[in-house]
Amino acid sequence: MRALPIRKFAPIMPLNVTGVLSDLDRVLLDAAAIQARVTAMAREVAQQFEGSKLLTVIAIMDGGLFFVADLLRGIDLPMRLVTMGASSYHGTTESSGEVKFTWPASLDLKDQHVLLLDDILDTGLTLAALQDRLRAEGVASIKTGVLLKKRREHAREVTVDFVGFEIEDEFVVGYGMDYQGRFRNLPCIGILKP
Ligand code: IMP
Ligand code: MG
Repeated sequence: MRALPIRKFAPIMPLNVTGVLSDLDRVLLDAAAIQARVTAMAREVAQQFEGSKLLTVIAIMDGGLFFVADLLRGIDLPMRLVTMGASSYHGTTESSGEVKFTWPASLDLKDQHVLLLDDILDTGLTLAALQDRLRAEGVASIKTGVLLKKRREHAREVTVDFVGFEIEDEFVVGYGMDYQGRFRNLPCIGILKP
């Protein structure tokens, strides 16, 4: 098993600021809890792919930005990173049901072993749609990891291999996740004030 320790070099904002943190009703997961879990997940992923020749990581932006950055720096395996945007949200906290991807030009995934990463599994539409697309592209295998999984009914059945935390069905922000484009820079994950 090859897993690297994740050093806590990310600047963590002070907790008594009157800035973005003051918009939170409560903190669900603090920065230390997130880092500890992501470090453990990196070990799980490294174990799963031990001995693999070349892994293709597909990271969904922008929500997965911090999770993917922290996770991948803990995995000492040969990999290439592909990022793409996916949108099923249109400025509200309810999913619209339609998923669009910003598919990179000339991306050849045929016979690749893919690790698909996203911030959160909510309705499951995004990851299910992407898994369909990857299968159509002729990938050799797909493993999927999310930092958060909401306890709710999923609109589509989707297989997830690595889950950081299961959370209640509440809208969360921080550590990459946004509300109308804001709050991604929070080092913790929290619930906004009503
Ligand atoms: P799904 O397709 O409904 O599973 O939604 C997945 C996407 O919706 C995630 O990649 C997030 O970008 C976004 N999303 C879902 N729930 C939340 C939330 O509680 N906070 C912020 N973004 C969310
Ligand atoms: Mg997303």
